[in-house]
Amino acid sequence: MSIQFEYIDGRRYQTSMPYFAPVDETEIIRLDLEDTMLRLWWGNSFGSPMAERLNGEGTKVLDVGCGAGSWMCDLAIRYPRTLFVGLDIAPMFPGENPPNAAFLECNILEKLPFPDNTFDFVHQRMLSGGITQKQWENHIIKELVRMTKPTGYVEFVEADSAFYSSGKVTRRISNACKYYNSLKRHAESKGQCGFIGTHIKGILENTQQVTNITHDVKDIVLGNRAGKSGEMALQNILEMLKSLRPALSKSMEITNNHFDALVETFMRETSVYETIWRVHRVYACKIDTPV
Ligand SMILES: C[S@@+](CC[C@H](N)C(=O)[O-])C[C@H]1O[C@@H](n2cnc3c(N)ncnc32)[C@H](O)[C@@H]1O
Repeated sequence: MSIQFEYIDGRRYQTSMPYFAPVDETEIIRLDLEDTMLRLWWGNSFGSPMAERLNGEGTKVLDVGCGAGSWMCDLAIRYPRTLFVGLDIAPMFPGENPPNAAFLECNILEKLPFPDNTFDFVHQRMLSGGITQKQWENHIIKELVRMTKPTGYVEFVEADSAFYSSGKVTRRISNACKYYNSLKRHAESKGQCGFIGTHIKGILENTQQVTNITHDVKDIVLGNRAGKSGEMALQNILEMLKSLRPALSKSMEITNNHFDALVETFMRETSVYETIWRVHRVYACKIDTPV
């Protein structure tokens, strides 16, 4: 499918899908920042016990909703004998990518163009902005497990769309994000699940095709109290809010200037309340079924 774009306040947004974030250079920089921040938080790029296989010959990795390819290009350089494939609906792929990395434009809400049991490792990160609870349950998780080889791993990283330990303005902005989801022009964006991280383990269990499910939760205090990673997390959230400004100020029925003032207050509140952003990482091994 070819996707359509519109420009608002100098940012480029795609209009064909419910996904909210822009598709432009500024967003690529934010995604790179988020990738570095997440690596710093977890102390690694993935939780699944895959390092040995990635160092071996013939291993295949799929990154679903890969964005600018930050996660997989870093790994493709570190593991040159492994083949990496990235899928995304919006083309933000790097112009120059490592020789063992390939990108494909496709919509993950459809059946993906790979046979069952193709990949040793299937990874998917930060997609909750565009997917409903039903789509997660009925399609996405099953589809990712389908493409994973027996004894291979499937891994998800998703953040909650709310902040914990928050001030009044922070809560107002969080609520506006929730309402924005239901106000968007796409009927199917109603029911988008901003808390899928808490449900993935259960959905994986229901497939009855995986074992050894691990669910790790990371709470990060926004701002410099949590050192470099806290500063980067706050910067990342501010960049996200900036890119949502046209939509949020409209749904909150306030001017852009008023929205900017709220974001200033949000920043001060994060420091007073030690506001937390929560990220979930869930991974599991596909059962090796005898034939
Ligand atoms: C927040 S970005 C995360 C990118 C990458 N996973 C990362 O962690 O750097 C979410 C990505 O999901 C993609 N996306 C959203 N809905 C999609 C869909 N239906 N099919 C394929 N990609 C989708 C968006 O285009 C965007 O690049």
